Amino acid sequence: MPTRLYHLKNDAYQLKEINAKETWPVRHPVLRKGRPLEDVYMEADEQASTFHLGMFHNNDIIGVASFMDDSHEGFTGAQFRLRGMAVLPEYRRKGIAELLLKRGETLLKEKGKTLLWFNARVVALQFYKNLGYQVDGTLFDIPKVGPHYRMKKQLL
Ligand SMILES: CC(C)(COP(=O)(O)OP(=O)(O)OC[C@H]1O[C@@H](n2cnc3c(N)ncnc32)[C@H](O)[C@@H]1OP(=O)(O)O)[C@@H](O)C(=O)NCCC(=O)NCCS
Repeated sequence: MPTRLYHLKNDAYQLKEINAKETWPVRHPVLRKGRPLEDVYMEADEQASTFHLGMFHNNDIIGVASFMDDSHEGFTGAQFRLRGMAVLPEYRRKGIAELLLKRGETLLKEKGKTLLWFNARVVALQFYKNLGYQVDGTLFDIPKVGPHYRMKKQLL
């Protein structure tokens, strides 16, 4: 995927495809805060079908999202799962996560994927709802992480 350039509030940002390790400087402080670095590792990180997107500002990574081939038993079709969606606190509410997720959706559609699903932290619920994702089922707890809702969106 070619690098994409964005201007948000007079600052330049670059969106690129990255490898799993490049997500760590954002994944660790935002999603695994206070836990050992090895906790950032996800089993599907290195799967050939997995892709990771990163947003850069002045060559520093400030936002990440990972897309993995992982089916949920309750859903049908060509499914992918979003994991590790995170933006550094000082870069939030600028539209970074929205750009990462929309880019991921476009790439998934190009691959013929029909559904994107994930487990959403309650704090991020409104963000996902604004982008057309729907809650599926009831609130459940993920140990060490907290309460989540499963969410999904039909892509194709
Ligand atoms: C959730 C998260 C990824 C959003 O990143 P972001 O770059 O700030 O999101 P965006 O700026 O693209 O948000 C776009 C829109 O979503 C909504 N939104 C984003 N964060 C929100 C929040 N905390 N509460 C309510 N609405 C929110 C807003 O409508 C926002 O547009 P606006 O700022 O013009 O109102 C970021 O807050 C984060 O990393 N949180 C901690 C980790 C986390 O919870 N990750 C999700 C795991 S499931």
